[in-house]
Amino acid sequence: MKKELKVSPIENGTVIDHIPAGQALNVLKILGIHPNTDAVLSVIMNVRSSKMGKKDIVKIEDRELKREEVDKIALIAPNATINIIKNYEVVTKRKVFLPKVIEGILRCANPNCISNVSEEPVNSKFITISENPPVFRCFYCERVVGNAAEYLI
Ligand code: CTP
Ligand code: ZN
Repeated sequence: MKKELKVSPIENGTVIDHIPAGQALNVLKILGIHPNTDAVLSVIMNVRSSKMGKKDIVKIEDRELKREEVDKIALIAPNATINIIKNYEVVTKRKVFLPKVIEGILRCANPNCISNVSEEPVNSKFITISENPPVFRCFYCERVVGNAAEYLI
């Protein structure tokens, strides 16, 4: 029997667990955490999970992510769990919820969509039509996007 991989616990911060394998870097992108960040981060990819087969985990030390900033990751990680850690203990555990309207995170797959061709800056805007699996419809041209990870701006 294979043992579960043990990763070090953190003292304080946020642990995003149950990210689909391979999506950890996209989660950081949606959170606006860029490669030059000075946040203390652990990115754990492709670890064994009893619920998911394989999964990714992101740990951000000394930061308590707010609900609004974290819910957007449901675009690509609808089953993610957000754990707030204080003094080595999980003090809050919750799921993510897709916002009804997604602005400026996804680009429309339709090259002729006004959000892609306009000279004026028109922010992309999608309406959530299914939460899990996540499916979105462009507010402007009605093109449907099911594979959000491939259309992140
Ligand atoms: N964790 C951490 N540092 C801590 C406490 C927990 O990094 N001081 C991490 C754990 O490694 C795990 C996540 O936070 O990835 C949630 O911890 P816990 O609730 O203890 O784990 P599980 O019971 O396995 O969570 P779930 O039921 O959500 O699968
Ligand atoms: Zn469109």
